[in-house]
Amino acid sequence: MKVSIIGCGYVGLTTGLALAELGNEIILVDVIPEKLKVIEQGRSPFYEPDVDEMISKHISSRAITTSMDLKEAVNSTEITFITVGTPSREDGSMDDTYIRSASGNIGEAIKDKEGFHVIVMKSTVVPGTTDITIRSTIDEVSGLGSGEGYGLAMCPEFLREGAAMYDSLNPDRVVIGTHEDRTFEILSKLFEPLNSDILRTSPTSAEMIKYTSNSLLATKISFANEISRICEEVGVDVYEIMKGVGMDSRISPQFLRAGVGFGGSCFPKDVSALMHIAKEMGLKTPILDGVMENNDIQPYHLVDIADRSIGGIKGKKALILGLAFKPDTDDIRSTRSLPVVMNLLEKGAIVAGHDPKAIDNFRSEAPDIEYFEDMNMGVDWADIIFLMTEWTEYKEIDWSTKDHVEAIFDGRRTIDTSKIEDINYWSMGRVLPDW
Ligand code: UDX
Repeated sequence: MKVSIIGCGYVGLTTGLALAELGNEIILVDVIPEKLKVIEQGRSPFYEPDVDEMISKHISSRAITTSMDLKEAVNSTEITFITVGTPSREDGSMDDTYIRSASGNIGEAIKDKEGFHVIVMKSTVVPGTTDITIRSTIDEVSGLGSGEGYGLAMCPEFLREGAAMYDSLNPDRVVIGTHEDRTFEILSKLFEPLNSDILRTSPTSAEMIKYTSNSLLATKISFANEISRICEEVGVDVYEIMKGVGMDSRISPQFLRAGVGFGGSCFPKDVSALMHIAKEMGLKTPILDGVMENNDIQPYHLVDIADRSIGGIKGKKALILGLAFKPDTDDIRSTRSLPVVMNLLEKGAIVAGHDPKAIDNFRSEAPDIEYFEDMNMGVDWADIIFLMTEWTEYKEIDWSTKDHVEAIFDGRRTIDTSKIEDINYWSMGRVLPDW
C-alpha cells in the first residue's frame, strides 16, 4: 500500500520504517527541511539502535521517500498517518496545536482527491481528540464526511525508545480504533503481516488504552520505588522482594525495577495529562498523584543518602554516569539525571557528567557543569559517582584500578557488586549504608 506519514519524530519515523519493512511504499513528510535532508542521506535524526541501517536500506531502494509537500504526499497515497508532536503545557494539559494544523492541511489535501483516503491518528492524544478535534477539523476543511468521504481511525503506538524498531515490528497487540468497517478492513490488511493480535475499539477507547497502559506501567515503577524506600529501612533488598512478588503470574516481574524513577517522553507527560483530564471533570486522582509524587522523591532520596553516608557532599567532585533517561537513546526528556545534578549543585558539589550518546542534548539543560567524553577520565577525576543510566559500558568499568573513588551511588542497580570490593557502594532499595 502507499502510505504518507506526517511528522518524522520517533513515532513517525519508526512507523514509516516498519511499514516499509512490511513491503509498503512510504512518503515521510515534515516541516523541518534539515530533518528530511538527514533522512535522505540515509541517517537517523536521533540515536536509536538499527534505525540508521533501516533508513539507509529503504532510502536506497526508494521504498521510503521524503517530502515537505503534505498535499502532494497525501494525494499520491491511500493512507495517511498523523504522527506530529503532542507536547505538554505548563499545567500538564496536552497542546494540540500541531494536531489541529496537520488535520487542517490533510482536510485541504483530500478535498478534491479521488477514492477513499484513510487517516490514522498515531500520536498519543487525550481521549476524544480523534472523534472531536480531528474529525471536525477535517470535515470542515474538506467538506467531506468521515466514513463516506474519508476513513478515520486512531491506532496508538506502544514502542519503547531504545527498542523502537523491535517493538514496531513485534507489537504485543495492534489497537484499531474506528467506527467504520471499511477503514477497519483496510488497516487490518496493512497490519496483517505483523502477525499480532488486533483489537477493534472506538477511537476514544483506543486513546484511553494508550494513556491507561502508560499510567499503569508508571504506577508499577512508582509502587516498586515506594516499597524500595521501605525495604532500605527494613534492611532487605527490594530486588529480591520484587522477584518473589513478580513470580505471581497475576502480577508479572515487568516494570518493578526500583531505582531513581521514570523519565522519557511518555510516562511523565501521559500521567500528567490523564490527571489534568480528570481534574477538569472534577475527579480526584490519588493514585496518579502518588505516582508522580513518588517519581519526584527518588532523585532527591539518592542525593540525600549520599550526603548523609559520606558526611556531606559539599566540595566533592561528583560524576554523573548516564544522562539519557534510559540506555540506548540520546533522549534526555524528563531524565532523572537533571534533578540529581541540580540538587548536587545546590548542596555545593562540583559536578561533571558522562554519557555515551546524550552529552550534547544534556549540555543545553545544564551548560555550566563539566562533561567528560571519556568515561575513564571522568571516573579518574571523581570522588563520588552517581550511576543514573544502565548503559552496558558502565557494567564493564574496571573498578579494581579506581580505588581513589570514595563511594558509588547506583540509581539503576547497574554494577555487579563482586567487582567493587574496595569501594563503598550503595544502590537504591538495599539496606542503608553504614560506612
Ligand atoms: C514507554 C512505554 O514502555 C511504551 O510502551 C510507550 O510507547 C512509551 O513510553 P519508553 O519511555 O521509551 O516507553 O521506555 P521504558 O522502557 O518504558 O522506560 C521508561 C522509564 O521507566 C525509563 O526511565 C526507565 O528507566 C524507567 N523504568 C522502567 C524503571 O525505572 N523501572 C522499570 O522497571 C522499568
